Amino acid sequence: MDNRLFYPATEKNKKYIGEIISKIPLKQGFILEIGSGSGEHAIEFQKRFPEITWQTSDPETKHRNSISAWIDHQDLNIRMPQPLNIDVNKMPWEIPYEIKQSLQGIISINMIHITQWICTKSLFKGSSQLINDERQFLILYGPFKINTKHTSQSNELFDKSLKLQNKDWGVRDLEAVCEEARINGFTKNEIFEMPSNNLTIIFKKL
Ligand SMILES: C[S@@+](CC[C@H](N)C(=O)[O-])C[C@H]1O[C@@H](n2cnc3c(N)ncnc32)[C@H](O)[C@@H]1O
Repeated sequence: MDNRLFYPATEKNKKYIGEIISKIPLKQGFILEIGSGSGEHAIEFQKRFPEITWQTSDPETKHRNSISAWIDHQDLNIRMPQPLNIDVNKMPWEIPYEIKQSLQGIISINMIHITQWICTKSLFKGSSQLINDERQFLILYGPFKINTKHTSQSNELFDKSLKLQNKDWGVRDLEAVCEEARINGFTKNEIFEMPSNNLTIIFKKL
């Protein structure tokens, strides 16, 4: 049985997100991905950045099965560990010691607007327990409002469609996200405008 999931948006944005990651000087070590979904980003980035070990995670079994299937399909079993079952709200996150010791950074792509706001808060809280060094990073990718305003009509429509699916979902306000970052000792280090009205934000510890 082939458990691989295929996400068209992921297929489209992986190249652009990879370009941002390529600007970061990476050493050997781990990148922890939160909410890895299908696993398509993970296998792409593991192949593109062989110096790091890409550690996926997702709380949903069907996603973890898809990630494992993609790892298998791409013959990456020797390079990539199996996905961890991390729900950002269940703290402390259970992370192997080896990863904590050589963690380069944490990344979460298109997660915070398709979950409740508590997940954004937990993402920063949990990340702040693992990131202590100014060289480490936390990267978020997705659509954001700026000063509570949508940056495009398509994001506004997307926001409405998210709220119809779940009233607690929705495109987040950049300032509110940065405030959560600040509360947890992070500062917005760099921000990149991405195709389709998305942003990539790199946070670092102060
Ligand atoms: C829209 S998908 C994005 C998946 C992938 N990052 C991508 O861009 O293709 C959101 C992901 O967040 C995960 N997720 C939902 N609730 C979560 C939580 N409490 N903690 C961590 N991840 C969560 C979902 O299982 C799903 O894989």
